[in-house]
Amino acid sequence: MTDPNVPGDGTPSGRTLVIIPTYDERENLPAVVERLLAAAPDVSVLVADDNSPDGTGEVADRLAAEDPRGRISVLHRAGKEGLGAAYIAGFRWGLDRGYAVLVEMDADGSHPPERLPAMLDAIDAGADLVIGSRYVPGGSVVNWPWQRHVISRGGNVYSRIMLGVDIKDITAGYRAYRADALREMDLDAIESKGYCFQIDMTWRMLGNGRTVREVPITFTERTVGQSKMSESIFREAAVNVARWGWEGRRRRLRSLIGR
Ligand code: GDD
Ligand code: MN
Repeated sequence: MTDPNVPGDGTPSGRTLVIIPTYDERENLPAVVERLLAAAPDVSVLVADDNSPDGTGEVADRLAAEDPRGRISVLHRAGKEGLGAAYIAGFRWGLDRGYAVLVEMDADGSHPPERLPAMLDAIDAGADLVIGSRYVPGGSVVNWPWQRHVISRGGNVYSRIMLGVDIKDITAGYRAYRADALREMDLDAIESKGYCFQIDMTWRMLGNGRTVREVPITFTERTVGQSKMSESIFREAAVNVARWGWEGRRRRLRSLIGR
């Protein structure tokens, strides 16, 4: 379904929606939106705010009202339900409006908007999911404490072994999805709340035979506000990844022995 109100130049990336989930990001949001629209002036932006106590929702409304090209919209959600739920609501919003590419981007400036054109080129060239990757040649992380390096590297090795896939940065949160590939998925079935949402989505895309590509980015840790990473987010990821890995192995075994 194509919405005539969504502009397009014929390529998928001509109809791109960048979804920015926010929880207490009032000081970060204006700068990231400005950088984004400078780097990619023809995209639309959807801020998905979980009723942030710090008033990020009102900041987003003001940005939307002030943009002369009307590129910015705001999805006000009732309360904090986690990153995954905010993205799923954002995907639905974008799919309903006929966007051809849906992008995930953090509000804290960690994901360089300047790399978005390279990611969108990879979609136009045929990829279904493009991951802005820290761990392919040319990618890097700036200003992380050593603990985060260990968790992130460890999470990627763990996922690669458990799931048996060769993606270098499967937990990455900077991504572009082709809309068809999302439409094919049952978004209601995705129960991941926290960051393991990213692994979940990648695993489902691969299971559907979709093409995943990694494009290098430099991830720079935020300087303002706080990460929402928590122990429960970590635990959810560890348990789910192990379960998906076992389910995958069982499926492959069943098909081998033909029952
Ligand atoms: N709406 C909403 N609701 N937004 C949220 C929520 C929530 O419950 N939790 C976090 N966010 C938003 C933040 O406001 C920010 O814009 C973005 O999601 C990322 O949150 P951070 O807390 O800054 O994440 P991080 O820096 O620890 O983790 C990043 O890197 C991980 C991989 O190392 C994210 O990109 C993760 O998705 C990624 O897995
Ligand atoms: Mn962050």
